[in-house]
Amino acid sequence: MEGVRIQNQPEQRSRAAAASGPPPQPYGDGRPFEVQFTENGEMVRPTGWRDWPYVGTPLTPNGLNPPEAPFPEFHNVYMEPSAYDHYKRTGEFKDGTLLVKELVGVQKNNTTNQQDGSTVESSGRGYFMSDYIGLETEYKSSRRYPNEPGNWAYFSFGHVPEAQYAAATAAQPTNNCNACHQANAQQDYVFTQHYPVLRGARERVGRR
Ligand code: HEC
Repeated sequence: MEGVRIQNQPEQRSRAAAASGPPPQPYGDGRPFEVQFTENGEMVRPTGWRDWPYVGTPLTPNGLNPPEAPFPEFHNVYMEPSAYDHYKRTGEFKDGTLLVKELVGVQKNNTTNQQDGSTVESSGRGYFMSDYIGLETEYKSSRRYPNEPGNWAYFSFGHVPEAQYAAATAAQPTNNCNACHQANAQQDYVFTQHYPVLRGARERVGRR
């Protein structure tokens, strides 16, 4: 577990650290993505999240949640690179963590099963991705959201086709989003129980 020890060192990106052993391995160039806000405090839609570390994809097909799942259908979850880097070293979500969940539809074709919405492909009967159909984020900031539980604020850019995602959006009322996360998520309002990438990272630094 040598690599874990190195990543465990505090905020070290210096030449000295690189010289004294194998360099830590931040994602990409390790620079944080700067979350932007409008003058009236709306979050500007982030950019580039599909290139960020990807942590998991829960799936709630409409076919199994008729007529429509609350969050349809695949939920691709990504983590801002510097937050992921911090998580790998500490097993914790840093102040300033941004998580993105992008919804992707289930494909339909002439093999679609009317009961469950599944289709047949060469790998078997199952669920296969069609188009992007929604975008949500959550952002932890003690400075911006001192009164939100866990300092997490939640944002919905719409359950609409990708071309229609909102350019900016206000934080949701606490009860719309935060309350369910508080009651059901495994770690610090995040559903790490569904993200093997994060479970593995946390275990590697000796946390459970
Ligand atoms: C009824 C419970 C519930 C409510 C209400 C809810 N969520 Fe979630 N959320 C979940 C679950 C469960 C997950 C785990 C992944 C999945 O199944 O989508 C999740 C995951 C997420 C994630 C990915 C990171 C994480 O915490 O796991 C984001 C971002 C997110 N939700 C945003 C929102 C926003 C924005 C709202 C309000 C508009 C909201 N959620 C309301 C249950 C809820």
